Amino acid sequence: MKVPKTIEWITKHRNMPIPGHIRMIDQTRLPSRLVFLEITDLHQIWTAIKTLQVRGAPAIGIAAAMGIVAAVQNSRVKTGIQLAAEACRAADYLATSRPTAVNLFWAIKRMKELANAHADMPPAKLKILLAKEAVAIRDEDADMCRAIGKFGVKFLKKGYTILTHCNAGGLATAEYGTALAPIYTALDKGMKIKVYADETRPLLQGARLTAWELMQAGIDVTLICDNMAAHVMKHKKINAVMVGADRIAANGDAANKIGTYGVALLAKAHKIPFYVLAPTSTFDLSLKNGSRIPIEERTEKEITEGFGRRTAPKRVKVYSPAFDVTPAELITAIVCEKGIARPDFRKSLARFAGK
Ligand code: MRU
Repeated sequence: MKVPKTIEWITKHRNMPIPGHIRMIDQTRLPSRLVFLEITDLHQIWTAIKTLQVRGAPAIGIAAAMGIVAAVQNSRVKTGIQLAAEACRAADYLATSRPTAVNLFWAIKRMKELANAHADMPPAKLKILLAKEAVAIRDEDADMCRAIGKFGVKFLKKGYTILTHCNAGGLATAEYGTALAPIYTALDKGMKIKVYADETRPLLQGARLTAWELMQAGIDVTLICDNMAAHVMKHKKINAVMVGADRIAANGDAANKIGTYGVALLAKAHKIPFYVLAPTSTFDLSLKNGSRIPIEERTEKEITEGFGRRTAPKRVKVYSPAFDVTPAELITAIVCEKGIARPDFRKSLARFAGK
């Protein structure tokens, strides 16, 4: 499958990661145009995350890690302590971009810990170390997605039809995706799988991104509006629902794109298995359950004037949560790079997270 890389760190010299810059697909331009952003600036990466030019939980973690490197690579400070402090300031700023996907905070914490642990190094060396770490975060995510595909494909059989919500594909990760990984793995094995993609109001990640990337890969995808899912489950043969996640609490409650909870309820009503696929970087075991997961609320314009056309009366009251939490009891299994967790999720999630 040849799909361009969602996000990468570009350097002139193969073995020297500094100086470099971020190259990423501008996901707000898809599907009409495949445009790449070349980013060297901290504020630009913050804006790219905020405005969903890069989106999807793992991808924004990678973007933040690379953003920290972009922020410090030209620094002229004299000591490693000063450089570590600069990296931490950049990290704290990036942490304000979006609240729900824990991968963002996971990557930021990893970069800050590395900077502080090596603050005794000369700044030039610490910069290289940070750049290598950001690249490692990207590469590890790519590996985790392949592993998720290998475990998740166990739930698929030749000719199956899957329903998915939002985009948890290659565009949302380093490559390959989480919810879509088993479908790509099946394709690599020569198994044909059909997909129904929910459009995913209001920002249409399903229509713009999932449909686009599945078509690029030659997968049979049918686009539906979100409110068609119940009808499709009743009248078409849907063998499984596969979705990604932005944060999974210790008991298995899983936050994902708004509308996922509704899809899970529909799946239960139609006796269709509902799988959540996410790397361990999406686990937040500090939260006992999903009730404390911060839910991002986005601007009303995304609902009243989505994509430039007003579709609601001026001054109408709007509520726009970007995520919801699917309770663990609606989830058949959680698939991560280390294996498959089944209810009760607590023990297996803790084991996979290495706790
Ligand atoms: O607002 P978005 O587009 O960043 O939301 C993305 C999702 O909800 C994805 O399903 C989730 O991040 C998993 S991506 C592997």
